[in-house]
Amino acid sequence: MDSKDVIKTPSELTGDKGNSSLYTGERRSKNDPVFEALGATDELSSTIGLAIAHLEGVDKTAELSKQLQFIQCMLQDVGSNIATPISSKSDVKKDQTRFDPDGAAVTELEGWIDELMPKLPSHRHFILPSGGLAASTLHVARTVCRRAERAIIPLLGEVDDSAFAYVNRLAATSKIATAFLARNYATKKLLISSEMHSYSNSMSNLDEPPHLSAVYSKTMDKYRGANKMISPLQGRMISWLVGSLGCKQILELGSFTGYSALWMAEGIYNKHGSKDSQMCHIWTCERVKSIAEIAERNIENGGASDLITVIPKEAIDV
Ligand SMILES: C[S@@+](CC[C@H](N)C(=O)[O-])C[C@H]1O[C@@H](n2cnc3c(N)ncnc32)[C@H](O)[C@@H]1O
Repeated sequence: MDSKDVIKTPSELTGDKGNSSLYTGERRSKNDPVFEALGATDELSSTIGLAIAHLEGVDKTAELSKQLQFIQCMLQDVGSNIATPISSKSDVKKDQTRFDPDGAAVTELEGWIDELMPKLPSHRHFILPSGGLAASTLHVARTVCRRAERAIIPLLGEVDDSAFAYVNRLAATSKIATAFLARNYATKKLLISSEMHSYSNSMSNLDEPPHLSAVYSKTMDKYRGANKMISPLQGRMISWLVGSLGCKQILELGSFTGYSALWMAEGIYNKHGSKDSQMCHIWTCERVKSIAEIAERNIENGGASDLITVIPKEAIDV
């Protein structure tokens, strides 16, 4: 598009009747699907611009910003392609607005995905859109990208297939870039499970004893893979089960830091009103010796050493 067309003076503005011009000169209603798709693409590029602004001053993200700026340029070309529907293109305009004829842009995005993928941890949780300002803005960009993709679908046949493919691939790329950014530069990372736990805790009469809260938060803060620990509400549930089933002997396979065993001990106290180990005993085995020692310490600090014995062994050997 000519640069003189980019910013119009008030006397040049012609859209008051609800119409606007395509790049071909044809006028269409402003709610025509072409303008819906153009608007979403523009919004996507603007959101990426905001993410770039949030990346300023963040260490080691210069390359990422450059890549995002390049994507903004490509989105400009996607927009030109959308604004010149194939059926109304002259041959000259067709050449001017053809998008990525040799597939290089899509290949570049795929290369970027291949580069970032191995740097990401595998996790089984959904990630809540979060991870600091830049990552959160890229999350917004990702969702706008999906909307742009949906908006282009009614125009298939009227836009180049490669333009649609680019937006489609971009949605996947931004998802991975966001995860990468959140992993490396997040001020705060939220796994959906921890959010759910705090919500469910706040909605229940959990009444978690302080020594259990201390073990839970210390484990969450300090240990990789802490989300394999049971949640506070699950803890309350097993303590209730231990009490109501009248358990006499319990063998737990996998102590981790002792949180679940401490909850079971809580069930015994609540039922019998005492710490008398004659009522019931818990054996819990943990194959990682250093973790078993932590469990033991936590159990001792929780005053439950009489009720719980940590066995630092493989379950199969117990
Ligand atoms: C899911 S976590 C247990 C969480 C714990 N019950 C809690 O909620 O606080 C599993 C633990 O079991 C241990 N583990 C896994 N396989 C084991 C085995 N075969 N024998 C003993 N411990 C094992 C792991 O090292 C890990 O600490």
